Amino acid sequence: MSDLENQVEEVKSSFDRAVVSIATTDALQKLKVQYLGKKGALTVLLKSLGSLSPEERPLAGETLNALRDALEQKIEDKRQTLIRAEDAEAEALGRVDVTLPPRGRPAGAFHPVAQTMHEIVAIMQGLGYSVALGPEIEEDYYNFECLNMPSWHPARDMQDTFYFPDSEESDGETSKRRLLRTHTSPVQVRAMLRYGAPLRIVCPGRVYRRDNDPTHSPMFNQLEGLLVEKDVSFSVLKGSLIELMNGFFGRELKSRFRASYFPFTEPSMELDIECVECGGKNSNCRVCRGTGWLEVCGMGMTHPFVIRAGGIDPEEYNGFAFGMGLDRMAMLKYGINDLRYLFDGNVSYFLSGRDA
Ligand code: PHE
Repeated sequence: MSDLENQVEEVKSSFDRAVVSIATTDALQKLKVQYLGKKGALTVLLKSLGSLSPEERPLAGETLNALRDALEQKIEDKRQTLIRAEDAEAEALGRVDVTLPPRGRPAGAFHPVAQTMHEIVAIMQGLGYSVALGPEIEEDYYNFECLNMPSWHPARDMQDTFYFPDSEESDGETSKRRLLRTHTSPVQVRAMLRYGAPLRIVCPGRVYRRDNDPTHSPMFNQLEGLLVEKDVSFSVLKGSLIELMNGFFGRELKSRFRASYFPFTEPSMELDIECVECGGKNSNCRVCRGTGWLEVCGMGMTHPFVIRAGGIDPEEYNGFAFGMGLDRMAMLKYGINDLRYLFDGNVSYFLSGRDA
């Protein structure tokens, strides 16, 4: 064995011996300096290349570079193991410092749902929409009645509602009953009354329903869209939503529009996009359950009843509306497989990006 080969072997085995006893990321950093730092063992060997003959140099250089790559890889593997162990230990001791920036992501990163909301709003702003907001504590009138859902309407049951106990039906005045809005659609009429036509708005926000299981949370996020103009056709709605989905997922997706029903749009549709997880190729896919399609958005041409409630003449103006779940969009884009991760405040999932 040549002198250099001996030295390489020596560095390798002394590193391997040292790395097994390392127990903290700080100690690992010191070890890295010992071997790869300016005066590190490997660096000294690399410097000695200069004293070799031109014939010996290429092979020796190759050997030393391979050693450097191997050491760097071992250090990185060890670092990942230590980070996991340190996170788990800190968590077990209840010592997670939530003021620290998350590892592996830039400090100040948004929550995935907020990130999703910003991305969708930005795309819609590019199509000429502005942002409008409405109250989370709503009146029965805006949440239901003016959306063509009178008190007897069966569609109200689809949205099991949290009513405020102190606003029980009194004197037959259901319309003033207070509730937590069950969707972002009440912002439609509020915005029409406030801004008139023509109008293009998106309304992101929290909504509430009596629902709680792995795919439903009593609080979740929606984004509503509303356009009111003259002679609007369904093809504009289709085009805008295809643009939105392709923009959000960053590629051209197959899509299909299915007939559906909402009391406040006529006709009504639902948009399905091709499964972003398996592309329709996996019959056991956990995201699309093998159907190849994902339901992402309800929509339709705004019902004249709703336009009129917004103080606008439906003979002169028409339009469309759509509504989607922002949490679902975030889960699809970021591969999060349980809705509860988004809301339960268990930081370990986001700290190390592993399945909690
Ligand atoms: N508000 C509906 C829901 O929550 C979605 C929707 C909005 C449908 C606008 C059509 C138009 O399910």
